[in-house]
Amino acid sequence: MKLYRAKDYNDMSRKAASIISAQILMKPNCVLGLATGSTPIGAYRQLVDWYAQGDLDFSEVTTVNLDEYKGLTRDNPQSYYYFMNEHLFSKVNICKSRTFLPDGTEPDSHTACENYNETLRAVGAADLQLLGLGHNGHIGFNEPGEYFPTETHCIDLSEQTIKANARFFQTMDEVPRQAYTMGIKTILSARKILIIVSGEDKADIVNTAFSGPVTPRVPASILQLHGNVTLVADEAALSKFQKG
Ligand code: GLP
Repeated sequence: MKLYRAKDYNDMSRKAASIISAQILMKPNCVLGLATGSTPIGAYRQLVDWYAQGDLDFSEVTTVNLDEYKGLTRDNPQSYYYFMNEHLFSKVNICKSRTFLPDGTEPDSHTACENYNETLRAVGAADLQLLGLGHNGHIGFNEPGEYFPTETHCIDLSEQTIKANARFFQTMDEVPRQAYTMGIKTILSARKILIIVSGEDKADIVNTAFSGPVTPRVPASILQLHGNVTLVADEAALSKFQKG
């Protein structure tokens, strides 16, 4: 695993955006696996700035997102569809028909997951997969469990994740309890993986995930087995990292 130390959130965001933009420059028709959450917002902002300055062209890029809440409509500001439009897609020259997310409005989990698996197969392996890190070690919405789920599946979100997500909703009742997420096998099929982490509240999980044993109880630990992973994290997130 390559480790890039960043001073703070802004530095982490610029470094991550540099890696993503290098991928687009090297292969304009690349497949980018994208993530949501608060961590990648700064990187997306930087990519939008570089696009606005004429330094980046998204016209041939295809994107596949990791996950989507089950039951949220696309016009719900908390849906990941809305998030991606808000932070990236509506601000660059990406072709909307080449941006893919699981369909959170599909009530039948089996149909939603099979449809997304089909999309992912058709698009092919991501050239670069961007990941954030949940406090409990989740990647996408692959929550801690007894095994590593392989493909897209419907997940019951853990209490810890529901609580962490509550800050984005008015009431606890509105916080979705389920999500559709890309599976671990699909995530690992990406040629390169870029995981970004910021903040002291992630220091314990960074150490557990990347210094500890590989176990489905800490889903991100599986990244230790991938041959091309880059971790970009700020000093606060790395403050307890024994292998750092
Ligand atoms: C969310 C997303 C993940 C994200 C994680 C961390 O639940 N499904 O893809 O990486 O939680 O979020 P944040 O970056 O806000 O800490």
